Parts: sequence; C-alpha cells; structure tokens
Amino acid sequence: MYSQLLPLAVLFLGAGAQSYGFWFQPAATITTLNVTMVIPSIPASSGIHYIWPGLQPDSDLIVFQDVGGDEDGSGAWTFAEWEVDSNGTIRHKTNDIDVKMKVLGTGVNVCPAVYPGDSIAISFDLDTATGTWLDEWAITPGSTGKGAGEVFSITDVIVPESRAAAYGNLTEALFIIETYGGTWDFGHLVFNDITIVAETTETDWCKS
Ligand SMILES: *[C@@H]1O[C@H](CO)[C@@H](O)[C@H](O)[C@H]1NC(C)=O
Ligand SMILES: *[C@@H]1O[C@H](CO)[C@@H](O)[C@H](O)[C@H]1NC(C)=O
Ligand SMILES: *[C@@H]1O[C@H](CO)[C@@H](O)[C@H](O)[C@H]1NC(C)=O
Repeated sequence: MYSQLLPLAVLFLGAGAQSYGFWFQPAATITTLNVTMVIPSIPASSGIHYIWPGLQPDSDLIVFQDVGGDEDGSGAWTFAEWEVDSNGTIRHKTNDIDVKMKVLGTGVNVCPAVYPGDSIAISFDLDTATGTWLDEWAITPGSTGKGAGEVFSITDVIVPESRAAAYGNLTEALFIIETYGGTWDFGHLVFNDITIVAETTETDWCKS
C-alpha cells in the first residue's frame, strides 16, 4: 500500500518537491471517504507543506482533496477544500468563497487557520441520487487552537459530481504529504477513523 509518487503528484511537483503517502484502490466508485486528520506541528523548514486526504479517478487527471497547508507563509496551517485538475487549475471553495486560480498561492488567504493538535473530521460523501458531493469537515480545536480562540466549527461544501468526476468516477482514496522546497519536519501525520465506502463486494483492497 505504501508506494512511490502518484502520477498526478509528479505532474504538479516541481524541482525540490517531494510527496509521501498511502492509498486505497477498490477499483470501483468510492461514494464515501471519512477520516479524521490531526494537524501536526508547524513545519520548521521554509517552503510549502501540504497534508491531505482526497479522492482521484483512475485517470489521475483530477484530485478532490481537503488540504492543510502553510502556503500563506511559514508558521501557520490553513485548511480548505481543493480540486486540482491536470491543467494545473486549482479551485478552492471554502466559506462560500469560490476562487479559481492558475498560480499556487493566489487568493488562498480565504482559508481558515487551523492549529497543531486540532482534529478535523473530514467527510466526502456522494449523493448518488442528486449527483452531488457533500464535503464536510468539523474542526475540534486542540489546546493550541483553544488558546488562539478557535472554536468548534463545521463547514459544508457542495461540489457537483460532474465537476469532481469529470475525468471518471473517483476510485482512489489517498492520504498524502507534499513538500515544495521544505522538508517533512513536522512529525507524524495522524489519520484516524478511516471509513471508505465503495461500490464493490471485493474486500482485498482494504487489507493490502
Ligand atoms: C483542460 O484544458 C483542456 C484544453 O484546453 C480543456 O479542453 C479542458 O476542458 C480543461 N479541463 C478542465 C477541467 O478545465
Ligand atoms: C461519514 O461522516 C458523515 C459526517 O460525520 C456521517 O454523516 C456519515 O454517516 C459517515 N459515513 C459513514 C459510512 O461512516
Ligand atoms: C459511476 O458512479 C455511479 C454512481 O455515482 C455509478 O452509477 C456508475 O455505474 C459508475 N460508473 C462506472 C463506470 O463505474
């Protein structure tokens, strides 16, 4: 299950970039991905760091992801829903602000701050009747976040399936760290309570 770079990651990773991850491939449409991600320490290195769970189709031409990142400037994590397609187009939709960008780092200051020790319960849930994804996350602050005045919050983002799955049904669930210029120097990244629902009766994919 642990493997090397994904094709999509290779596409978007430039010089000095690295990615680490594991993923599940049921070889069938995934309709739910639930996971709790714990925000790790603030990266010590400069550069950009991303941490995320997400979904991709077999084609690897788009990734639908909920991303913790420090692209706003070293020393802080923020959090947002992202879709990145094979053209390098990035769409964020957080708190009703929809930003379409061609350049990493443009407009990302709309993303909420999160803090080391926060638990973010993330849910990607496809409503097969309406063809929409509900991407919901609930942030439970840790002690650092509470100290900063952060309170429990829930954010819902509705994404049309046609947009997320324009390149095929989403069939891969990924758990990834990416570094651009920096290093993985923020300790363990913890993913708890992973639930993946896929339209298959096969079970091998969850065991190996
Ligand atoms: C990517 O670019 C191609 C060529 O311009 C276009 O046909 C396609 O619709 C674009 N994909 C997205 C998701 O915008
Ligand atoms: C996934 O999480 C959502 C939000 O908490 C919840 O409503 C849903 O029942 C969960 N789905 C599964 C299969 O656990
Ligand atoms: C894509 O997913 C839908 C459920 O949203 C399913 O009805 C359809 O059969 C899937 N297509 C393929 C090719 O698996």
